[in-house]
Amino acid sequence: MNNPLNRKWLIKARPTGKVSESDFLFVDAPIPEPEEGEFLVKVMYLSATPVLRRHLRATDNGAGKVNTGDVMPGRGVGTVIKSRHKDFQAGDIIQGRFGWQEYAISSATGADMVHTIKQRRVPFSTGLGILGLNGFTAYLGMADVGQPKSGETVLVSGGAGGVGSKAGQIARLLGAGRIVGIAGSRKKCRIMIEDLGYDAAINYRQENVSTKLAEVCPEGIDVFFDNAGGVILDAALEHINKRARIVCCGRITDKTEKEQEEQRIKNYWRLGRQQARMEGFYVYDCLEDLPRAEEQLSKWLSEGKLNHSEDRLEGIEKMPEALMRVLKGQGEGKVVVRIDPEAA
Ligand SMILES: NC(=O)c1ccc[n+]([C@@H]2O[C@H](COP(=O)([O-])OP(=O)(O)OC[C@H]3O[C@@H](n4cnc5c(N)ncnc54)[C@H](OP(=O)(O)O)[C@@H]3O)[C@@H](O)[C@H]2O)c1
Repeated sequence: MNNPLNRKWLIKARPTGKVSESDFLFVDAPIPEPEEGEFLVKVMYLSATPVLRRHLRATDNGAGKVNTGDVMPGRGVGTVIKSRHKDFQAGDIIQGRFGWQEYAISSATGADMVHTIKQRRVPFSTGLGILGLNGFTAYLGMADVGQPKSGETVLVSGGAGGVGSKAGQIARLLGAGRIVGIAGSRKKCRIMIEDLGYDAAINYRQENVSTKLAEVCPEGIDVFFDNAGGVILDAALEHINKRARIVCCGRITDKTEKEQEEQRIKNYWRLGRQQARMEGFYVYDCLEDLPRAEEQLSKWLSEGKLNHSEDRLEGIEKMPEALMRVLKGQGEGKVVVRIDPEAA
């Protein structure tokens, strides 16, 4: 019998405009052997997420330089099958940045953000969505920084996105009284209310955010979980309550210098007036907190308390198609690709 090969996708070209399937090259190579301090992973699932576009376009995404000819980066879940690393053993189920390939070598360095999956309550593929970095970011940002109290009003920008869709639900489970989400389409506003349990939704493309906030947060905002920054943050600041907490998770709106200039924060003084707190949060610095987040989220998930849907494709060949689906906004839930047909 022939030895299996390691099939993988390389970055063929850096897109200057839209990402397309022709930016990737499908190749195969022998399965690598781990050296001292490394282990070999057989990949079960890979994730397709919007952040991959940044990996493709930029030479350095803050998570390590990626060049043309490199394996396309991406997070996955897999099983350690050979190890020469003191902290990992054959049989461990882990999630990390393995790249678009069937077998990956890792030394579990910082950018790989390797996390050992302990829970057995829900399928391992959830390690790429609700029990992956998005879910952990939402949980740690909301529970540790936002700290919603019983009955409080919580606002989430990017409320239907990867992180925000979880942050709103988590706020409810932590006892918040009123949850309001901000998104950019009618469809996303409907999803926030019907599927994610938000009490109200604001369409920032069609409505004046500040005017609408006054209407849907009549008692003001106690916690703002902010994925957007810019003008949305500025509008929210106008409505914060005394001792409000603002979780600085992302700033999706600040794209160019010109846009940043247009989106200058004018209402920051409200922090002083309201004795409020604005605190940054970065999941990559919270490795030791991930098991706690995973434990709580998997418990809620197995109890049916968290909405989590998956859009699954089959086979490594489908990775570019999966990414296109995400970038065109066609994914119905978290888009994952099953790489190992035997994976549960
Ligand atoms: N601090 C951390 O540790 C950490 C960890 C992970 C992610 N993040 C950051 O968190 C943010 C959300 O990440 P994600 O994975 O949830 O991304 P995502 O799935 O792409 O969702 C973000 C949402 O933001 C909305 N958006 C896009 N442009 C916008 C604009 N100009 N104004 C307002 N909203 C806009 C989009 O929704 P619409 O189509 O409705 O506009 C999108 O659904 C990003 O900034 C990311 O970098 C931070």
